[in-house]
Amino acid sequence: MKTLDTLIRAALAAGALAALSACGDSTPNLAPSTSSIPSGEAGLPIKQGRLIAINTVSMLKEHAGNGLRCSSCHINAGTLPNGGAWVRVQAQDGQALAARINRCLVESMNGKPLAADAPQMQALHAYIGWLGTAKLTPEQEPLARGFGPIDASLTPDPARGAALYAERCAHCHGDHGEGILEKPELGGGYKYPPLWGGQAASAASEMNQLPMAAAFVKNNMPRTRTHALTAQQAVDVASYFVAQPHPAAGNGPSWRVADPISH
Ligand code: HEC
Ligand code: HEC
Repeated sequence: MKTLDTLIRAALAAGALAALSACGDSTPNLAPSTSSIPSGEAGLPIKQGRLIAINTVSMLKEHAGNGLRCSSCHINAGTLPNGGAWVRVQAQDGQALAARINRCLVESMNGKPLAADAPQMQALHAYIGWLGTAKLTPEQEPLARGFGPIDASLTPDPARGAALYAERCAHCHGDHGEGILEKPELGGGYKYPPLWGGQAASAASEMNQLPMAAAFVKNNMPRTRTHALTAQQAVDVASYFVAQPHPAAGNGPSWRVADPISH
């Protein structure tokens, strides 16, 4: 069995270094300065954790049940304001954090839970722990977890949502919500994640519940122009895709099987 160390070297050789240094780009992010990552061995688990969030498919192998990445929902590896950031996670202790991560692995990635002492789990803890050291302004604090506000009293209209999906979402997420795959040399999985069908997050995923889905869309989509939709549009389009067919949670690795997408 490959060690995590071998995996990280393979991922780095495959071009994940660019993703790892994405902290330095102009996208707003809430992470502490990368210079606070200890050099050498001590800092390795933090870097590994970040890589797992981005290259989830290649780093978690059989634990990842679909081709999503953690960063499909926790944008920029959990550092984007209102993008499902991990800078102030709710889980207070290690056990609760492991359970929280496994919930996403099983329900959102349709995969298998990691043991609490698995090196990949330890790496995610190290990375999330390091993110937690960020010093934030009082204005940034509420943006450091979750997907931001949405008016939950709005009445969804899925028919309007379907029209909006075709116009504003389908060119990235596919006419049938099937997504677009990443180049294999960039770690595999999806570049534009599927929103429904056999490879999407399960029906149990919190991303497939209103109003969570609507908050995510309002504050993060379309990816190139966030805040471009009104709250009503976000609620409409979210009510459309959450009502499409989604697989059951926790079926383990199925995404490499030839075209299991069902509409
Ligand atoms: C399909 C979307 C999706 C994917 C993929 C996903 N998650 Fe999540 N995750 C969510 C949602 C939705 C929440 C709930 C956010 C909230 O409560 O505001 C969440 C919450 C969390 C939390 C708690 C955050 C907090 O604010 O307390 C952690 C930690 C977490 N996820 C880790 C992971 C890890 C690690 C992976 C990859 C192995 C992953 N998630 C993959 C959707 C996803
Ligand atoms: C320019 C391309 C683009 C457009 C347009 C776009 N998205 Fe996305 N979407 C992405 C990317 C890329 C991600 C993954 C996050 C990342 O890598 O930054 C994503 C993630 C998501 C997710 C979370 C992942 C999952 O599997 O549940 C949802 C939900 C979503 N988009 C909904 C929408 C909706 C609804 C629209 C239309 C209003 C939309 N997106 C428009 C690129 C796009």
